Amino acid sequence: MQVSRGLEDVIIKTTSLTFIDGEKGILRYRGYDINDLMNASYEEVIYLMLYGDLPSRGELEEVKSIINESYDVPESVINVIFSLGRSCDPIGMMETAFGALASVYNPAWDKERDKETALKIIAKASTVTCNVMRAKEGLKPKVPEPSESYAKSFLRSSLDKEPDELEVKAMDNSLVLYTDHEVPASTTAGLVTASTLSDMYSCVTAALAALKGPLHGGAAEGAFNQFVDIGSPEKVEEWFSRKMEEKKRIMGFGHRVYKTYDPRAKIFKRLAESLSSRKPEAKTYFKIASKLDEVGEKHLSEKKLFPNTDFYSGILFYSMGFPVYMFTPIFALSRTLGWTSHFIEYVEEQHRLIRPRAAYVGAEKREFVPLEKRS
Ligand code: ACO
Repeated sequence: MQVSRGLEDVIIKTTSLTFIDGEKGILRYRGYDINDLMNASYEEVIYLMLYGDLPSRGELEEVKSIINESYDVPESVINVIFSLGRSCDPIGMMETAFGALASVYNPAWDKERDKETALKIIAKASTVTCNVMRAKEGLKPKVPEPSESYAKSFLRSSLDKEPDELEVKAMDNSLVLYTDHEVPASTTAGLVTASTLSDMYSCVTAALAALKGPLHGGAAEGAFNQFVDIGSPEKVEEWFSRKMEEKKRIMGFGHRVYKTYDPRAKIFKRLAESLSSRKPEAKTYFKIASKLDEVGEKHLSEKKLFPNTDFYSGILFYSMGFPVYMFTPIFALSRTLGWTSHFIEYVEEQHRLIRPRAAYVGAEKREFVPLEKRS
């Protein structure tokens, strides 16, 4: 009997979506290197992931128009978000909103419509995410206004200000960077749900539930809080030595797949450096992070531990004006594309109910003793 603990190395599907070479630090979506995709908009990547190729101008406009027409959500869903307390967990709030959307829409799987359903879900994810923030900040509900850019509409509706070009580009790149990473726990949880042919909104709800756990989402928040805790670049070495003595982990370091510098972390570092330079505190956090990156690499690289995607991303989101609790929701917003792409690939091309087995190791057959005779 062989139990694969944590399903490590179990292949649950084939995919044409994402390729990762963890030894060389390569990440590609549908064959395109993540560095090259920094020249594509999130909407181009949406088309690429769902339809298989980069779009023509006409195809891109069509995707944008479906998204722009789909930001609305039923009032009952907005009410659900705002009825939760301001102290509620933001991913829990997203789960609740997606659970509500699943009960309202409940779309059946249909090859002719699945991709359009995914586009609608991606649009509504923006509405849900920005309203989770608005509810937590005590603001009034808002539906993102259509614009030429998904990233711009999200920034406007979340932060109530007109983002500049650099911020829109950085958000666009961030959405692409977090789009997909093969089959981590959240995608797998959603795939199990998709395998029962439950609707796509419910699959996203399941993925969000898995993302909520501290072993999956939350590392960007953890990494950022370390920089706040350290306080200044001069204190990094002493802080690091103390953490090592206490056998604590450095958040934003290490990855199950990457045994070298995560290619996304390199890009996030550049983006964080450029945006943090506008805000004194963010600039200090960036300097602390760069120093910790250097010290960590010196001491942890022999264990093949390097910064991962969450190491610098929080500084970027903070520089844009997002509170720390929004780092994981922004990850979820972006990953909704990866999730829905995998669900469609699985259901349309390789569907089978996912139903593993457990090896029974409990008691042999026992005699039942009625309650009154038990001592
Ligand atoms: N800091 C210090 N040491 C670490 C770290 C770290 N961040 N990560 C792993 N190690 C050490 C372990 O203590 C262990 O050392 P040992 O062999 O001396 O006991 C060794 O490296 C291997 O650790 P594992 O736990 O077996 O590695 P695994 O592949 O299971 O863990 C994980 C990967 C969970 C990401 C881990 O590196 C970690 O906890 N990192 C910090 C949290 C984090 O940044 N998570 C975000 C991941 S990316 C994402 O989800 C988007």
